[in-house]
Amino acid sequence: MTHFARIVGTGGYLPERILTNAELETMVDTSDAWIRERTGITQRHIAAEGEFTLDLAEQASRRAIDMAGIRIDEIDMIIVATTTPDQVFPSTACLLQSRLGVHGCPAFDIQAVCTGFVYALAVADQFMRTGAATTVLVVGAETFSRIIDWTDRNTCVLFGDGAGAAVLKQDTAPGILSTHLHADGDYANLLQVPQGVSNNLAAVQEGRAFVEMAGGEVFRMAVKTLGRIVDETLEANQLDKSDVDWLVPHQANSRIIAATARKLRMPVSKVVQTVAEHGNTSAASIPLALDVAVRDGRIKRGDTILMEGFGGGFTWGSALVNW
Ligand code: UT7
Repeated sequence: MTHFARIVGTGGYLPERILTNAELETMVDTSDAWIRERTGITQRHIAAEGEFTLDLAEQASRRAIDMAGIRIDEIDMIIVATTTPDQVFPSTACLLQSRLGVHGCPAFDIQAVCTGFVYALAVADQFMRTGAATTVLVVGAETFSRIIDWTDRNTCVLFGDGAGAAVLKQDTAPGILSTHLHADGDYANLLQVPQGVSNNLAAVQEGRAFVEMAGGEVFRMAVKTLGRIVDETLEANQLDKSDVDWLVPHQANSRIIAATARKLRMPVSKVVQTVAEHGNTSAASIPLALDVAVRDGRIKRGDTILMEGFGGGFTWGSALVNW
């Protein structure tokens, strides 16, 4: 018997500290006007000293669990998408499992950078369709501020910290209609932190391991690729563009989001945008945006939602969801 996965609760958490464009003007050679015009970003949240990815993930998870109205011991799988784990190991998912007081169920991290939440949702969906999991906590959580070179204007104006979470419950009807995952590692050098534990531990230890991005090339690839994945997702479900009620995109740049919306012939009023207030929170950006639109009542039961993401790897993917 086929089972389906339905999102029954969402949660988001943003650190208290807000970093404005005006403050960035005092740190690097940039301007509020440039940042707004080229990215749509006006502010981003930054984790406090001593506040870690796990802390953000826990807050978002508790809010999602509350909305779902489930008991914590019903959770039988935890997946955390993150590029900025607190430790080399254990995984952030295992640390979260302990924080939440869950015991015994599988818990693991997924690393697909900005596409991480879509990857995690797809993995959860597969486990739930086979009946191997019935109640899954899926989280996207990042402290990207820790891998940013705050003297590099090409990257430091773009990113922020945050976490978003979703609780998925098994259902007899979908839920998640389909997921579509892709990657092409040939593009690794266009968006990366080139150092890591194995190849340059000293850089990591000395705090010299930072995001590097060929912004323009990433921009062009993102627009092209996201356009293709919209087609792929609609074709797989034999749906028309007009059947999609909400676009919940990865929040990297308002111009990339606008291009995808144009591809869907969708008015901006049907696109959930949080990039202005959150900046790019990588794996957290889609679940954070989803949570905002669920809580403010825009997304309603029965709506069809297209989530899509693109990021380092390159990785890209989508999920079509019946709310
Ligand atoms: O989430 C994962 C995926 N990431 C993305 O999707 C990000 C994709 N890329 C982008 O969003 C955009 O490419 C950026 C926002 C990063 C840059 O926008 P752009 O319109 O592509 O600008 P550009 O790279 O063509 O740069 C234009 C100019 C350059 O100056 P020159 O070389 O033309 O003199 C940059 O040096 O803007 C300059 N610039 C800045 N100026 C003021 C770059 N960063 C800044 C800045 N403030 N912060």
